Amino acid sequence: MVKVNASPRPAYDAVARTLHWLTVLLIAIQFAIGWTMPGVHKDTQPVGLIAWHLAVGSTLVAVMVVRVVWRLTHRPAPDDLPPALRIVSRLTHFLLYAALILVPALGWINASSRGWTVRLLGVVPYPALSAPGSAFGHEMGDVHGILAWVLFALIGLHIGAALFHRFVLRDHVLQRMLPERVQSGRQHADRNY
Ligand code: HEM
Ligand code: HEM
Repeated sequence: MVKVNASPRPAYDAVARTLHWLTVLLIAIQFAIGWTMPGVHKDTQPVGLIAWHLAVGSTLVAVMVVRVVWRLTHRPAPDDLPPALRIVSRLTHFLLYAALILVPALGWINASSRGWTVRLLGVVPYPALSAPGSAFGHEMGDVHGILAWVLFALIGLHIGAALFHRFVLRDHVLQRMLPERVQSGRQHADRNY
């Protein structure tokens, strides 16, 4: 069996871990709303679930800005994965970041083209990213829905990989993103196998 990440210490600092799990929560809510809210048509008003989609989405945009800045200025501790696994892991993480930026940006562009103002938590207004009535903004709404499925597939792959590391390879990759407290408990449980 491949022996990787012998150290069970968190590789990501507390801020990076908090931002990761906050993103997970917001994305889960955003998918649930996106798939249950009424269809958006020409004269649809941004009320009810659609207003919630915009409010949660604007929060996600703010969280992603902080997360990207934090990631670029705070590197996680290196892993000791075999080279092939490291390439796949880095590529998946890069694609996840790309989708986490692109999907919200396209939703925001579409909202602007409908003349809707996107507001942080429904209060602080963001600038418009496209002109009201813009054909480009309209089309980006369709791309938003399609890329949301790509993001969903990437998340499935990512979660599958995390569980594969924990239960098949039995290394400490999952612990890299968990708080110290959970890890001590896990080490204790491991000793009792
Ligand atoms: C990663 C975050 C997001 C996910 C997973 C997501 C998901 C979705 C989904 C599944 C739909 C329904 C698509 C369909 O039925 O074809 C949708 C529609 C929509 N979303 Fe998002 N969304 C996200 C972020 C945002 C943000 C940040 C905004 C705006 C600030 C936004 C604005 C919209 C709008 C305006 C629509 C209607 C688009 C149309 O039908 O033309 N979304 N979203
Ligand atoms: C909405 C769902 C999720 C998204 C969008 C997401 C996104 C990401 C991203 C972008 C990274 C790279 C972090 C970086 O290097 O800056 C990452 C790392 C990680 N995620 Fe997730 N994640 C999600 C759910 C989960 C879940 C449910 C688990 C656990 C079962 C998990 C476990 C991990 C672990 C262990 C790492 C660190 C991997 C390593 O350092 O090699 N993630 N995640």
